[in-house]
Amino acid sequence: MDDDGYFDERVAARYDESAAEIFDPAVVDPVVELLVELAGSGRALELGIGTGRIALPLAQRGVAVHGIELSKAMVARLRAKPGGADIGVTIGDFATTTADGTFSVAYLVFNTISNLTTQAAQVACFRNVAAHLEPGGCFLIEVVVPDLQRLPPGGTVLPLYVRKTRWGFDEYDVASQGLTSHHFEVVDGRVERVSIPFRYAWPSELDLMAELAGLRLRGRWSGWKREPFTSDSRKHVSVWEKPAV
Ligand SMILES: C[S@@+](CC[C@H](N)C(=O)[O-])C[C@H]1O[C@@H](n2cnc3c(N)ncnc32)[C@H](O)[C@@H]1O
Repeated sequence: MDDDGYFDERVAARYDESAAEIFDPAVVDPVVELLVELAGSGRALELGIGTGRIALPLAQRGVAVHGIELSKAMVARLRAKPGGADIGVTIGDFATTTADGTFSVAYLVFNTISNLTTQAAQVACFRNVAAHLEPGGCFLIEVVVPDLQRLPPGGTVLPLYVRKTRWGFDEYDVASQGLTSHHFEVVDGRVERVSIPFRYAWPSELDLMAELAGLRLRGRWSGWKREPFTSDSRKHVSVWEKPAV
């Protein structure tokens, strides 16, 4: 791993292609719609802005977006896209890095909170976000519910996807709330492997982190169109707010 973290040049070069399904307007549009609403007339801060999947269409809707991102290789892909050069990005760890100004919404989508692999780093991230929010501003996270119900008794591995030239599976370590996603892909006739570590957390633990940071839950849904969150939900979209003084 180099300074770019797990999303280094090799991963960045194929990110948009390998995650093509989440670039589909049917996936992106409801995300942007909710973020436009939450941003109001204020600015938006994307933690882990990546190649601009959400930031670019959000900026096209008139919202001023700023990003914090570890990987220069991912940001280079953002910069190469139309409008990408106009989006400010601060390079650094979003658990601790500061961006100028305040924001009406900060967001972390596509399970990216789990890229912080310790509880301390996740708590630091909530505190960092709270410090960037204006009073009444909010923090949105999209993340999967830990899939432990699907693990066979005593098992540690779940398949993620099985395609013609790509396979993925998740390996759990319940003692540390650790989860490593292993991705295998045939590239130029050879199988390449990328393994990325995560830390999973239940919604209630995220609520506690929010409380430690002075934020309170405004809403939790199972999807971007505010579908109800239930015991069967596989992911959640949660919004915490910084009380208006
Ligand atoms: C799964 S990608 C999501 C990218 C983009 N938000 C999207 O929805 O397509 C996660 C991104 O977060 C970045 N990232 C992961 N951990 C980070 C950290 N601690 N600080 C800053 N960026 C981080 C990665 O480099 C990567 O670009």
